[in-house]
Amino acid sequence: MKERTSRIPGFHGLSIEERARRVAEWAKLDDAELALLFESGLTAERANQMIENVVGTHALPLGIAPNFSVNDRDYLIPMAIEEPSVVAAASYMARIVREAGGFRTCSTEPVMIGQIQILDLPDPWSARFDLLCHKQRLLDLANQTDPVVVSLHGGARDVQVRVFPDTPVGPMLVMHLLYDTRDVMGANTVNTAVEALAPVVEEITGGRVHLRILSNLADHRLAQAKCVIPTDLLEFTDSTGSTTYRGEQVAQGIVEAYTFAALDPYRAATHNKGIMNGIDAVALACGQDWRAIEAGAHAYAAREGRYTSLSTWTRDLNGQLVGTLEIPLAVGTVGGATRVHPGAKVALKILGVQTARELAEVMAAVGLAQNLGALRALATEGIQRGHMTLHARQIAIAAGATGDQVQAIAARLVAERKVRLDRAQELLAEAHPQLPEDARTTEGKEGGTEPSQGRTPKAPADLGV
Ligand code: MEV
Repeated sequence: MKERTSRIPGFHGLSIEERARRVAEWAKLDDAELALLFESGLTAERANQMIENVVGTHALPLGIAPNFSVNDRDYLIPMAIEEPSVVAAASYMARIVREAGGFRTCSTEPVMIGQIQILDLPDPWSARFDLLCHKQRLLDLANQTDPVVVSLHGGARDVQVRVFPDTPVGPMLVMHLLYDTRDVMGANTVNTAVEALAPVVEEITGGRVHLRILSNLADHRLAQAKCVIPTDLLEFTDSTGSTTYRGEQVAQGIVEAYTFAALDPYRAATHNKGIMNGIDAVALACGQDWRAIEAGAHAYAAREGRYTSLSTWTRDLNGQLVGTLEIPLAVGTVGGATRVHPGAKVALKILGVQTARELAEVMAAVGLAQNLGALRALATEGIQRGHMTLHARQIAIAAGATGDQVQAIAARLVAERKVRLDRAQELLAEAHPQLPEDARTTEGKEGGTEPSQGRTPKAPADLGV
């Protein structure tokens, strides 16, 4: 049987309903699930069970990035994000990479770290020795805390002990419990385990256990992605049609841009932010703890004592552009918000991943695609031209434009290089001299047709970011 393809030519040109229908067909969503694409299904009552003091729910745009091929499997990527161009860039870069054979990914076992801080120790080295000698007892005890994870072949894997002999609060030991959490993100599992171990750790060391909590620097739970792109696939003509960038020039420009991020933390922060644009958008859509992912990513980027790029971009012996990304990704396909958020469940179904490792690997591929899109744009025409076209649409909507007006006003704002609310309002007033300000605003907010409802805005198919 032919594998379904995530290459859907003209996807961006379809109406919202048609896009949703195609996605539903792809992921075999039933009518109720299809409806959840429009209404996330997170009722106030459900939200009230998730957090405290609920007064409502908060929505974000949900987009789909087609074209992804990861380890020869096709994926449609759900992305929840408010920033224009991110979905367009991921889709377009995935299209280039798929022509080059797609992304390759791999990952480690999903092993998290739980930390136990031990104080009031006369001899931390001796206490470390004692803990390591009791490793099996500690692992056995940790494995009693979550029999379900253990029955799924997860559970405690190792004990490591770090010594800080001289701190402002005296000698300190930090014990790490390495715990394979399988398909759950694992914060609860690991926190329960380290809390359970605390009394035994005190008994073994004679010290006092203080903090017991997981580490978000999940450097035993890594996902890696790679792409290799022949330079001819990188050639493109800019959005005005006036300049063509040769593939060789684009590839070398990307390597030079990467070198900047590799050497300079100021640039690396922005470079990595571009990677996280993609990863966070998938995380949000799929109900993942994106703060944990962010914390882990940036801590990992600084693991050698200096903050640097999470990705690398080089040329191989044939001159092809080679991109790699390595990032800790503590994600889960069961438990957490994936259990209670109906929209997140549907997003995971669209993605179609079977395990947390597969989810992490696809997310790494999306991060690498996003990074490629940003570097390609920065190394050639700059990001503002493409970005401004989309930003201008938001400004036009904010000014009260509806339907066809949105694109028309956005185009004028960009052409005039005045992507500002006051100018959009002036243009709208010129288009609707008879309408008083209030009526235009009301039309835009409530009665009006949103720009892409039933009609497709000019799509940013080849934006670089
Ligand atoms: C914008 O959200 C992300 C970029 O700044 C990333 C980068 O500079 O590499 C375009």
